[in-house]
Amino acid sequence: MEQRYIKLSNGIDIPIIGFGTYKLENENNQACEVVKQAINEGYRHIDTAAFYNNEQGIGKGIRECNVPREEIFLTTKVWIDDDGYEKTLKAFDKSLEKLGLDYIDLYLVHWPTENIKDTWKAIEELYRKKKVRAIGVCNFNAKQLSKLIEFAEINPMVNQVELHPNRTEKDLLKMCKRHNIAVEAWSPIMRGAIQSSDTIKNLAEKYNKSEAQIVLRWHLQNNVIAIPKTSKLDRIRENIDIFDFELDKEDMEKIDSLNKDERIKPQKYEELYIVD
Ligand SMILES: NC(=O)c1ccc[n+]([C@@H]2O[C@H](COP(=O)([O-])OP(=O)(O)OC[C@H]3O[C@@H](n4cnc5c(N)ncnc54)[C@H](OP(=O)(O)O)[C@@H]3O)[C@@H](O)[C@H]2O)c1
Repeated sequence: MEQRYIKLSNGIDIPIIGFGTYKLENENNQACEVVKQAINEGYRHIDTAAFYNNEQGIGKGIRECNVPREEIFLTTKVWIDDDGYEKTLKAFDKSLEKLGLDYIDLYLVHWPTENIKDTWKAIEELYRKKKVRAIGVCNFNAKQLSKLIEFAEINPMVNQVELHPNRTEKDLLKMCKRHNIAVEAWSPIMRGAIQSSDTIKNLAEKYNKSEAQIVLRWHLQNNVIAIPKTSKLDRIRENIDIFDFELDKEDMEKIDSLNKDERIKPQKYEELYIVD
C-alpha cells in the first residue's frame, strides 16, 4: 500500500495515515495481532498511550512483525497522573519497558495539565537525549498552545486533537501552520458516526468509496494526519486505501460546512490547565 508522509518541523517524516489503538487490549494477544495485521497491510505509524493499557501488546506486535523498527513510526503519551518533571521521566521509562523497545518516535503530553511547564521540561530532556525523535502535545487549544510556545525551549512538533467533520478546528489549524506544528486528528471518523451523515453518504456514492474513506481523504487533503482505529481486517484495509482518488474543492467545502464545533462526547480533562 502506498505511503504518504508529512515533514515535521525537525525534518522527521511522519506517515499521514496512522493506526489508532485505543480500546485494543493486551488480553488474548489482541493488540499484538491487530497491530501486526495493520503493519502487514501497509500502516507504518502506530498511535498508543500509557492510558490505553496496551503498550505491552503494541510493542510485542512491533517487535514480532516483519518490518524493521526504523520503518515504523510509534507514538505514545504521558498520562495526566504523571504530570511533573520526575514523574514524566519515570512514566517514559515505564512506557519503554512495557513496549520492549529502546526509543519512541513521538512522545506526546496527553492533556494540558497544571504542571505543564515541568512536564514539558522533561519531554524536552528526552528529546535532547535522543530517546524520542519528536515531541508534541494533545488537546491543546490555541490559548494553551500560545502559552506553551512562550515558555518552551523546544516547540512542540505535533498537536493531536479531536478533529472530524463535526469539529473542523479551522482556526487551530491556521495557528498550528503558522508555528509549523503538524496537526493529528483523533476520532477522525467520529468513532463510526460519519456513516449517519447524508452529505458524506452522498459523497461516498459519488466517488464510489466508503464514508470512512471520504472523510479520511478530506483529512489528507487538509494536510491533517489521521489515526483511525479498527480491530477488523477489512476496515484496516479500507482505512488506508485512500490514495487513488481526490475530492474536488466543492466537495471539500461540503464537508467543511458540516462543522458544529462539537465534540463526540464531553471531555472532563479539558480544564486542567486554565489559561486566561
Ligand atoms: N490524544 C487523545 O486524547 C486521544 C483521544 C482519543 C483517541 N485518540 C487516538 O486516536 C485514535 C482514533 O480515535 P478513536 O478510536 O476515538 O475513533 P475513530 O478512529 O474515529 O473510530 C474508531 C471506531 O470506528 C469504527 N470504525 C473503524 N473503521 C471503520 C470504518 N471503515 N467504517 C465504519 N466504522 C469504522 C471502529 O470499530 P471497529 O474497531 O469495530 O472496526 C471504532 O469503533 C484512537 O484509537 C487513539 O489512538 C487520542
